[in-house]
Amino acid sequence: MPRATSLYRCSECGGETPQWQGSCPACGQWNVLEQVSISRPARGPARVRPGAAAAPLPLASAGAEPARAATGLAELDRVMGGGIVTGSVTLLGGDPGIGKSTLLLQVAAHAAALAPVLYASGEESLAQVALRARRLGLAPGALEILPETHLESILARAAERRAALLVVDSIQTVQSGSLETAPGAVSQLKECAAQLVRFAKDSATAVFLIGHVTKDGAIAGPRVLEHLVDTVLYFESETTSRFRIVRATKNRFGAVNELAFFAMTEGGLREVRNPSAIFLARAPEPAAGSIVTVTRDGGRPLLIELQGLVDRMRFGAPRRIAQGLDANRLAMLLAVLNRHGGVSLQEYDVFVNAVGGVRIDETASDLPTLIALASSLSERVVPGTLIAFGEIGLTGEVRPVAYGEERLQEARKQGFQRALVPRENAPRRPIEGLHVVPVARIDEALAAAFSPAGQAAPPGRAPARS
Ligand code: TYD
Ligand code: MG
Repeated sequence: MPRATSLYRCSECGGETPQWQGSCPACGQWNVLEQVSISRPARGPARVRPGAAAAPLPLASAGAEPARAATGLAELDRVMGGGIVTGSVTLLGGDPGIGKSTLLLQVAAHAAALAPVLYASGEESLAQVALRARRLGLAPGALEILPETHLESILARAAERRAALLVVDSIQTVQSGSLETAPGAVSQLKECAAQLVRFAKDSATAVFLIGHVTKDGAIAGPRVLEHLVDTVLYFESETTSRFRIVRATKNRFGAVNELAFFAMTEGGLREVRNPSAIFLARAPEPAAGSIVTVTRDGGRPLLIELQGLVDRMRFGAPRRIAQGLDANRLAMLLAVLNRHGGVSLQEYDVFVNAVGGVRIDETASDLPTLIALASSLSERVVPGTLIAFGEIGLTGEVRPVAYGEERLQEARKQGFQRALVPRENAPRRPIEGLHVVPVARIDEALAAAFSPAGQAAPPGRAPARS
């Protein structure tokens, strides 16, 4: 039987099928399959020519620390694990308009003071980039803008200039001559990224790729490139907020989940050095359904307002919507609240929101989430001077979380006076100015949250119900 020489690949999800179809069998979208040729492997078993294979090297001969260059923004250096690693490839993703081009133009201009830097812009014209650079008050130095979308030309220029840094804005606009598909198609994204990775490793040029993420098309776009690159940074937070958060979700040269905080200003992105309370813009009188927690997501304590809203279900199945929190975890917490907290929300729509657009990926938000929901249901206000954190277990127990003491110290520094915490997180020595209320179970925690004195309820007392 003759071997097939082509197959059909989905431009949206990258799924493959040997036969043309109207819709992609993997993602179900219509008119997305495009024909691609596949190269036939050489006949016969593969033979390794003696001397052609790389020789093994002793591990000890490898350099200890990779060479790094500063970005000019200490916050960005921090999330990258200490600066830009020579020959590394970093993907910067985020919603359109969030500040990707702004950030990397700032970085490029800073790096250009020391070494040749190339900024390949397929998104904007030279005039537009120049205008932005002027707005940002950047000294152009050796920074060169290349209004080009042909990948091979970009690589040739970068090699010719011996660029220490190459920015590709954006990976969705570049096109390799080796493929016939349109820019932005999955096959193009992968091919271009693979070539850029090879170039970075061979030339020791640090490469930044900008990738747009759209809320609906999250499977296409930058996500398919994550495994190819060394570091993945994403802009979190909302474009409506002044603040911008950059999170490292993958880093071969440093810790992941570190966060960098910036404020978008007239003159571009400015670092926020002490970000612990930037999202705390609460009304002077706290409302029912609101509570402040201390997360330690991203390497340092951060005070976040959590909001819960429960509303009587109108029709169909109750809705459970989580913004900035894990929706599956919310479903689990609601079950625990029902079984062990005596609060049933089966007939209510439930919404929770981490204010400021930040994503919380740790379990310490369990306890405050439930308190916010109980507060919304009963329309009882949680005192504005109270913070809470703690993990909730399936049997209704409040479990300790890491860095308890650090969270408490930060809360006290920001002027909070009472803290509802897991019993095992109670500090050994009292913290001056902060009244710590240790709790062991969810019902006990709910009672303590609303009591003005902040004392845990005596055992056996019925929890709050509306
Ligand atoms: P941009 O970097 O173009 O976003 P992206 O490349 O991620 O699409 O940022 C665009 C937004 O930033 C735009 O709404 C204007 C705003 N902005 C400022 O507020 N100040 C500035 O100095 C600059 C350059 C942009
Ligand atoms: Mg841009």
